[in-house]
Amino acid sequence: MEKETINLLIKEAKKARKLAYAPYSNFRVGAALLTKSGKIYTGCNVENASYGATVCAERVAMFKAVSEGERDFEAIAVYVETEKLAFPCALCRQVMYEFSPDMKIISANKDKYEVRTLNELFPYPFGPKDLLKSGGN
Ligand code: THU
Repeated sequence: MEKETINLLIKEAKKARKLAYAPYSNFRVGAALLTKSGKIYTGCNVENASYGATVCAERVAMFKAVSEGERDFEAIAVYVETEKLAFPCALCRQVMYEFSPDMKIISANKDKYEVRTLNELFPYPFGPKDLLKSGGN
């Protein structure tokens, strides 16, 4: 990926993090999703007093995009302020795989970033094609 694009996505993810609603974990995350059509959708984590209702920043960004008609993703940047970088949780990887198995994941904090592919992070996936193979059972 071009460095300029990576830097822009990290900047947008950092901005989105400011809106995180994370009173329970205090772990604030921002995400910026780049679609193949060139648009950027941002997201932050949104927690809930019923903890299981929490949604990660990555899924917020993806669901915003899908609800606007976008299904092809190029890359997503995930920004945290911890020293250790954060990569998307398994649920978010599953949602990414549904739409864009080849997308890239940029994990960033204020000092550094790493770029990985979803294929690297999500081996042996279960996806839309697996349902077709079942013959309806
Ligand atoms: N979280 C994200 O938003 N993205 C990640 O990649 C890791 C986890 C959120 C969910 C929850 O609000 C908080 O971080 C702690 O798990």
